[in-house]
Amino acid sequence: MTDSLTIRRPDDWHLHFRDDAVMKGVVPFTARQFARAIVMPNLSPPVTSVEGCVAYRDRIQAAVPAGVDFTPLMTAYLTDGVDGDELARGFAEGVFTAAKLYPAHATTGSAHGVTDIAQIMPALEKMASVGMPLLIHGEVTDSHVDIFDREAVFIERTLSGLVRNLPELKIVFEHITTADAAAFVDASGPNVAATITPQHLHINRNAMFAGGMRPHAYCLPVAKREVHRLALRKAATSGSTKYFLGTDSAPHAQSAKESACGCAGIFNAPYALESYVTVFDEEGALDRFEAFASENGPRFYGLPLNEGTITLERGETRVPDTVDANGTTIVPFHAGETLGWVYRG
Ligand code: DOR
Ligand code: ZN
Repeated sequence: MTDSLTIRRPDDWHLHFRDDAVMKGVVPFTARQFARAIVMPNLSPPVTSVEGCVAYRDRIQAAVPAGVDFTPLMTAYLTDGVDGDELARGFAEGVFTAAKLYPAHATTGSAHGVTDIAQIMPALEKMASVGMPLLIHGEVTDSHVDIFDREAVFIERTLSGLVRNLPELKIVFEHITTADAAAFVDASGPNVAATITPQHLHINRNAMFAGGMRPHAYCLPVAKREVHRLALRKAATSGSTKYFLGTDSAPHAQSAKESACGCAGIFNAPYALESYVTVFDEEGALDRFEAFASENGPRFYGLPLNEGTITLERGETRVPDTVDANGTTIVPFHAGETLGWVYRG
């Protein structure tokens, strides 16, 4: 039995840092475990300009604890009529690493998102021509479509056509939650990849209703049936280079989650590696964890792999009921559980 796993330093290819006081509280959790992270731009107002993005990046960097080596990789928020030249300028200047497509009203902070992909085709063509990746929240927003079907319907209605029409565009299908999404990614060419969150590897939709309503198991895209969770575990641990680590860590105050209309999002940053490695261990795939956590992401993005290593050891990590993020109380993923791996740094 492997009791200790040393891997190249990993990155988190999708998360939310927010801004202001709570940002100062959550950045250290990620900086403790990851060398880099792709930072989502769904602030209020969203990050759309190069200058606004530089300022946000500076605020994040100021929140990294002294002596910790961590680099935020920034993203642009796509709106209808976005200027492709501005995106390309931000990409060329090393400010934007990628751009994020939120279908309008799909999730938290998506009110300014894209109403129809046709609106942004010129910008997507420009991105394809300069090699700038497109990150997609892949759900339709049509309220007539059952919430559990919105990802699969998005593939049919939007994503398959986009990949067909613009095959040279690099696309990350973010936080996939279905067997349909994994099958789509597997069947697509090398320009289509996906991130998978820890929660979608650990829980199915029953977790939201176990003995009562469980707001801390609610995120978007929402967890699906067990058959989908199993397909995601298979994809993540398959050894395919198309899948990589992206936590979608999404901090919301405990009070905003435990409410008549609780926010979507699971805060998994504090114990992200312990959570993922548990899945790879359970699947007998510890030897594939390094590629998923530390290699597939940078290779897809065309970025260098990190230097240095981190170590995870078998042992007990007791996850607290709540964590303090600079004055905001947040319930972390796995609250109250004990995980069987310890992060040693
Ligand atoms: O659950 C989610 N929370 N899904 C998203 O797409 C956004 C995120 C957030 O920003 O809270
Ligand atoms: Zn997200």
